[in-house]
Amino acid sequence: MAMSKDTAKLDASTAFAGFSKLSREERFQRLEEMGALSHEDVGFLRNGGLQSLDLAEKFIENVIGYFQLPLGVATNFRIDGRDYAIPMAVEETSIIAAASKTAKWVRENGEITTETVGDLIIGQIQLAKISDFAVFESVIEANKFNWISLANRDVAHGLVARGGGVRDIQLRKVPRGQGPESGEMAVLHVLVDPCDAMGANIINQVCEYLKGPVESATGEKVTMCILSNLVDTKLTRAHVVLRGLGSGLGSGLERELAEKIVEASLFAEQDPYRAATNNKGVLNGIDPILIATGNDWRAVEAGIHAYAVKGKQYRSITRWTMSGDELHGVFEAPIVVGTVGGVTKLHPTAQICLKMMGIESAAHLARVCAAVGLVQNLGALKALTTVGIIEGHMKLHIKNLTIGAGASEREVPLVQKRLEEILMLTKRISLSNAVEALLEIRAELAREIRSDDRRVKPPSSSPSSSPLIPTQT
Ligand code: MEV
Repeated sequence: MAMSKDTAKLDASTAFAGFSKLSREERFQRLEEMGALSHEDVGFLRNGGLQSLDLAEKFIENVIGYFQLPLGVATNFRIDGRDYAIPMAVEETSIIAAASKTAKWVRENGEITTETVGDLIIGQIQLAKISDFAVFESVIEANKFNWISLANRDVAHGLVARGGGVRDIQLRKVPRGQGPESGEMAVLHVLVDPCDAMGANIINQVCEYLKGPVESATGEKVTMCILSNLVDTKLTRAHVVLRGLGSGLGSGLERELAEKIVEASLFAEQDPYRAATNNKGVLNGIDPILIATGNDWRAVEAGIHAYAVKGKQYRSITRWTMSGDELHGVFEAPIVVGTVGGVTKLHPTAQICLKMMGIESAAHLARVCAAVGLVQNLGALKALTTVGIIEGHMKLHIKNLTIGAGASEREVPLVQKRLEEILMLTKRISLSNAVEALLEIRAELAREIRSDDRRVKPPSSSPSSSPLIPTQT
């Protein structure tokens, strides 16, 4: 469960303090103490999580195993006044570290608020060629309320019982080509309130159900029925404010930095080449939560990118501006997720992750995703306009390279230090640098041990068997 102020066993600020420096067992313990994980959850995760291939057979076809992604926790998030440990399933180094660090910055100097605008998802029924549009339109208008009732009675009755259901049918004319001679196709938009489901199955069922009534009433042919991922009828907004610009209160938020973030934001708003990368950075915060909660991240990605291009040019889905002494960030896009059906319901890790955040509804989950995406964006812009991206990425990456090069536990700190020096000088680092550094360090250590042997031991003693020294033949 999320850490509401009343029920938290351990205050979130205390629980998050020094979290990244803890051992895995200590992390489990903190999450348990703060009420984010139960004892059973910890046992399940500690033992490697989901193993059952039988369950996998329920998700997809031709199962041969699982592809495991690391699951981590981003800390320090306070969204709409509530503390969260955010589960993130992701392979990219530094995403969780950057999210946690930036969330701390916001927590100490401002706040994150979120809202949902609209609650309807869209299904589309295409009729590629219409003999008489005016007649077609009048038939649609005359029948649509009856069709809505039928669909709610025969298909969406479960949704209706939960307070949702089919709400409206709207006609759109879509050009078949560039000039007026190309003509138009008819597209019916079926608007559905899916409650806490993502709604993909139900809306597709509703549209396919309506195919028959539409064809028989209009005499026209339906070409296809499918949901739309561009759900501009259900938007999620997040807002970050950082206060005290230029006051030098030790927040690290200098006016100059805020101005640079605003410039970076303008770059992403005006230039699609930059907007794509900016939005990828926002999705770095969103996708890992979608994956951790068993949601369809491709659908969300498609919706966000389509929304980003709605004004005819692809733009950033975040915007940073200054207002007096404050830096303001806004995210607005569709994030259509579910909390009740499909993999979300069946996958035990997804259930643990939803519980960890105390998610109460699909809209709630979407708002958390938007907040984390916006904070992730802030972290990226801060890094890009100050130290650059290499430093943050590489410091963490160095550790992986060091281990990848085959350094032993005792050699790791030495190789890391050497790689940091190389990074300072050249601004780049690779696995071959790590291998080279490791070999050099081993040679140096071997030389040192040999000279110590000469000083301490009589010349007849046998050579050292230190694991640091490569076997010499
Ligand atoms: C890298 O995964 C994400 C960034 O490129 C995002 C951005 O440029 O804003 C750092």
